[in-house]
Amino acid sequence: MSTSLDAIVFLASWMYVSLAPYTKVEESFNLHATHDVLMYGVQRESLNHYDHFVFPGAVPRTFIGSVLLAWISRIALAIASKLTPFHDKVDIQVMVRLMLAGFNASGLCLLRRAISRRFGGPTSVLFVILTLTQFHLLFWMGRTLPNMFALIPANLALYMLVDRAPNSTRPSKENVHRAIGLLTFASVVFRAELALLVGPLAVQAIVRQYTSIANVVKVGLLTGTVSVVATVLVDSYFWQRWPLWPELYGVYFNVLDGKSAEWGVSPYHTYFSAHLPKLLLSAAPLSALGALLDSRIRSLLAPYLTFILLISALGHKEWRFIIYMVPAFNIGAARGATWLVTRPKNSLFGRLSFLTLVALIAVNCFATFLFARSSFANYPGGAALYAFNRMFASEDNVHVHISNLAAQTGASLFLHSNAPPFLPGFDAGHPTNWVYNKTENLSLRALTASKQITHLIAEIPALDSAVMDSWSPVAVVDGFDGWRLDRHVGQAFKTGVGDGLKALGNALVMLRSEKLVILRRKS
Ligand SMILES: *[C@@H]1O[C@H](CO)[C@@H](O)[C@H](O)[C@H]1NC(C)=O
Ligand SMILES: *[C@@H]1O[C@H](CO)[C@@H](O)[C@H](O)[C@H]1NC(C)=O
Repeated sequence: MSTSLDAIVFLASWMYVSLAPYTKVEESFNLHATHDVLMYGVQRESLNHYDHFVFPGAVPRTFIGSVLLAWISRIALAIASKLTPFHDKVDIQVMVRLMLAGFNASGLCLLRRAISRRFGGPTSVLFVILTLTQFHLLFWMGRTLPNMFALIPANLALYMLVDRAPNSTRPSKENVHRAIGLLTFASVVFRAELALLVGPLAVQAIVRQYTSIANVVKVGLLTGTVSVVATVLVDSYFWQRWPLWPELYGVYFNVLDGKSAEWGVSPYHTYFSAHLPKLLLSAAPLSALGALLDSRIRSLLAPYLTFILLISALGHKEWRFIIYMVPAFNIGAARGATWLVTRPKNSLFGRLSFLTLVALIAVNCFATFLFARSSFANYPGGAALYAFNRMFASEDNVHVHISNLAAQTGASLFLHSNAPPFLPGFDAGHPTNWVYNKTENLSLRALTASKQITHLIAEIPALDSAVMDSWSPVAVVDGFDGWRLDRHVGQAFKTGVGDGLKALGNALVMLRSEKLVILRRKS
């Protein structure tokens, strides 16, 4: 039972990686850092080839996650290539993402074990069901955002806090220290906002006498210092800037200097009114029920709720800043769900409770289906470049210019399949001398005048008829725009129930439009 539940969690996260293999601009720093470590190695003379030096201007972020991910992926590739030979760099991107998803899946599986120990087997099964029927956590945990690296220690810390006997009134002192240590590391190295979780956790541990103030200070100082030394040493080297502590720089840049407000300011309640409901779906009301029923859930969620209250003070809000909350709330939700399924079935109330839970999970499934459908269609740049690489695989000396939209919606370095650098074996069976040109802000006229460019992956709205004399369209790639509710459903019911039901099935229409076009220069 427990191994199959683990397997399902792994497979679900891997399914999302394989169904949506491409990445967006938010993921690209860590994805390209992983690419560069894998392809060029970490010697000083290789650094000149790194993407953050070729395209400077990015806000510094840590390399620690990417370096570890690259080294682990290299081992996984060596093993996997014994079974099936790889030739296309895009397979490396998939492997890298499978590894990251796997680490996060392991965290969830560990957590499930702790839930089973503390709250019982049924609650742990419901935890898995709720997690699987939500969208964001599973879809994103294989994407190379700094937050998804931070999620690994964050889930381990939650595991430490939950893992104890059902009736024990406190976590062991060692586990509290480990949790604080892990979260301190995560906030120093990966995501500074997690410091807002360390604080409330430490206060709770002291007030409830899980451990002493002296111990909290000792653990915090020790892990904090080690983490600062690690990130400063590693990141000063990779950024060639001494001394550099990327997360501190980010806090300075975004919070103290007010730059994050430039990304948009949301009202105080946004995390509670928009982001949490979207991340949790029906686990939101269920976790409230769990907290109502069980004091263990209340004390588990208290620091997490405090975190959200604290981070709400920052004007700029994004769902990924609170993704670490989802597993904790799912534990509460699983507890609430367990209560619903264990009401005596011979009473009307018991049957209604059970049906309520079934309905709530069905709502999750429906929402996740919509989220997934739209997300799969949301990477036109990756789809266009992948198709392009195959379409012209018989031609040498292709020089393709990739537009901004394409670069931001999936045309990552791993999709430069037919151009160096190559790992051994990846240069076989296709051309190796293409140029993928991502120079920004070139007008179509300038691109047309620049005769070395043979192909374009261009944005459709940018086209005008004057330049189109020089190019012939080869293929068009569309992307997701939104959902539309078909207004004819009501009318269809008037002509008959059968027609009405059929219309209902097609009522939600996915809107797509043409985003990118592949152009080849007329000879
Ligand atoms: C391209 O244009 C955008 C918007 O005008 C600007 O923010 C960006 O810095 C430009 N990029 C380059 C490389 O000039
Ligand atoms: C990309 O195209 C522009 C415009 O023709 C050119 O100036 C630039 O050198 C090209 N970049 C590469 C890497 O060839």
